[in-house]
Amino acid sequence: MSRTPMITGNWKMHKTTAETRQFVEGLQGLVDSGASSLTDGVDIVICPPFLSLKTAIDATSNTNIAVYAQNMHQEDSGAYTGEVSPAMLNEVGADGVILGHSERRQYFGETDRDLSLKVPKALACGLTPILCVGETEEEHSRGETESKLRLQVQNALESVPVERLAEVVIAYEPIWAIGTGLVATKEHAQDAVAFIRALVEGFDKDAAQAVRILYGGSAKPENCAELLTQPDIDGLLVGGASLDPGSFMQMVEAAKVVGVSA
Ligand code: PGA
Repeated sequence: MSRTPMITGNWKMHKTTAETRQFVEGLQGLVDSGASSLTDGVDIVICPPFLSLKTAIDATSNTNIAVYAQNMHQEDSGAYTGEVSPAMLNEVGADGVILGHSERRQYFGETDRDLSLKVPKALACGLTPILCVGETEEEHSRGETESKLRLQVQNALESVPVERLAEVVIAYEPIWAIGTGLVATKEHAQDAVAFIRALVEGFDKDAAQAVRILYGGSAKPENCAELLTQPDIDGLLVGGASLDPGSFMQMVEAAKVVGVSA
C-alpha cells in the first residue's frame, strides 16, 4: 500500500493576515517561475493561526494546498473562553486540525484524556486530525521514549472507530528537537515512527499500513531528504522552516523526489 507523502507547515503564533497573504503570493511566485509545482504527488498543508485561516483558505482556493487549524475544542459550543469549536472550523473551510502539539500540552495543560475526545471529534466533523506525540529530553535520556509514545498513542486512539483509524495522521515530534535545531537522527526517528506504526497495528493491521506518520522537530531543507527516505516516515510537520515559502517548497520538492511507499 502506498501512502501519499505530506508536508505540513505549523506556523504556530506567526503571521498576521497580511503576512499570510504574502506567504501565499510568495509560494505562487515560485510556482509561476517554475521553481516549484503544486502537483498531486504530495499533500501540502499549511496551519496558520485561527485569525489567518480564512485569508489562507481564500488565497489558496485555486491550489491543492490544504489549510488546517492548530487546535480545536472537543465540544460543539459552550462556556469555554478563548476556544474554537469544530463547527467554527467547518464554517471557515478548514480541512483539518493539529491536535495535542507538545506546546499545547506543555503551556496549556492539554492532556491525553482531552486528546481521546478531540481526535474522534475531529473525524466525526470531517476534519483530518494530526495527532502529535513525542518524548521530553529527560524521557529520551532515561530510555522512556517507547513507554511515553505507547501511552499517548493508545489514549488518543482508543475511541476512534476502527474503520476511520487510517484517516488519522500522527506526527512524531521529540520535544527536545522542536525549535532547538537538534534534529533527531534518522535512525531514532525511523525507530520511533515504526514503533508508533506497531502501536496502530494493535488496533488494526490494515490501518497501520495506511496511516501516515510524520516526523517533526527542526526539520529543514538541509536534513529533510534523509528523514523522508526512512521507510516508515511519510512526511514532515515543520515549524520554523515552514515560515518561508522558499524553504517550505524545497521540502515539498524533496518529498516529491523521494515519494513514499510501504
Ligand atoms: P520546528 O517545530 O520545526 O520549529 O522544530 C516543529 C513543530 O513544533 O511542529
